[in-house]
Amino acid sequence: MIELEKVKAQIHTFVQECNDKKCLELLDKLSTGKMLRSKLVLKIAGVSEESIKLCAVIEMIHAASLLHDDVIDESDTRRGKPSVNALYDNKTAIMFGDVLYSKAFTELAKMPTQVATTVSSAVTLLSIGEMLDVDLTEEFNTSYEKYLDMIYKKTASLIEASAKAAALLVNKDAQKFALYGKNLGLAFQMIDDILDITQDSQTLGKPALLDFVEGKVTIPYLLLHERVEDKEKLEQLYKKELTIEQSSWIKEQMKATKALDDSIKQAKTLGLEAIKAVENEKDDSLVQIMKAMIEREF
Ligand code: IPE
Ligand code: IPE
Ligand code: MG
Ligand code: MG
Ligand code: MG
Repeated sequence: MIELEKVKAQIHTFVQECNDKKCLELLDKLSTGKMLRSKLVLKIAGVSEESIKLCAVIEMIHAASLLHDDVIDESDTRRGKPSVNALYDNKTAIMFGDVLYSKAFTELAKMPTQVATTVSSAVTLLSIGEMLDVDLTEEFNTSYEKYLDMIYKKTASLIEASAKAAALLVNKDAQKFALYGKNLGLAFQMIDDILDITQDSQTLGKPALLDFVEGKVTIPYLLLHERVEDKEKLEQLYKKELTIEQSSWIKEQMKATKALDDSIKQAKTLGLEAIKAVENEKDDSLVQIMKAMIEREF
């Protein structure tokens, strides 16, 4: 997609405007992700100078959140390459994250007020979501409500804001697109949590089976805990480096109890909710984005 190339060029320009060689060097180390949020914005708002800038701002915010997330999660791989915290150190990842966040906010301040507040308040939610995610690792969380609130904040909020801001940019129904984005975002994080279990790290481009070791009781683990016979065994494996036998046992139990299947079902239900919100838009590409997001492998 040629417009995604424009977004990448815009990000480069924005970082160049920071007037620092090290920042450009670090940008080069990031490599591009799936650009889901940009695809969403461009589908809703079409291609224009404003929409490309909005995409660049959102991708910079997203990249900053990942720089910080990899420090928080002690993750050494991102998008198939060593993460910045692994390649340099935690300090560099945090500081470059701050540069990307603040430059994104400078650019947001030049946009229509509602667009700017929509996106910037999502970043507050995202940051609070990351705090909740870490807090929930203190002990084995068994509350679905807490999980849902946390994934809404850390992931769905920015996807919701992307869809809403794009709609605002072209005077479409912001509430409808926000609801679409919110449900899409919730499903997106659930799929991310499922892929952590079903995929290998090479396919993911980031570590696999890391969540449970890090203390994250994601939706498949929540369902597994409800259903598994030997709850004590599962609880004992929580926050431990797993042997091959132990991770095989978890994966087998995930299958046997249908914890994985039902997590996928839950994500699909949210995906359908997303579509419902924009039903009368008659835009098949919004359905396509949702389906591709559910069926993705990384
Ligand atoms: C990763 O986001 C972090 C989550 C919110 C799950 P993406 O899966 O969109 O990451 P990239 O940009 O494609 O690498
Ligand atoms: C999403 O959570 C991170 C952000 C919203 C920044 P994860 O910690 O699950 O993301 P990955 O799996 O590292 O991409
Ligand atoms: Mg992470
Ligand atoms: Mg994380
Ligand atoms: Mg994850």
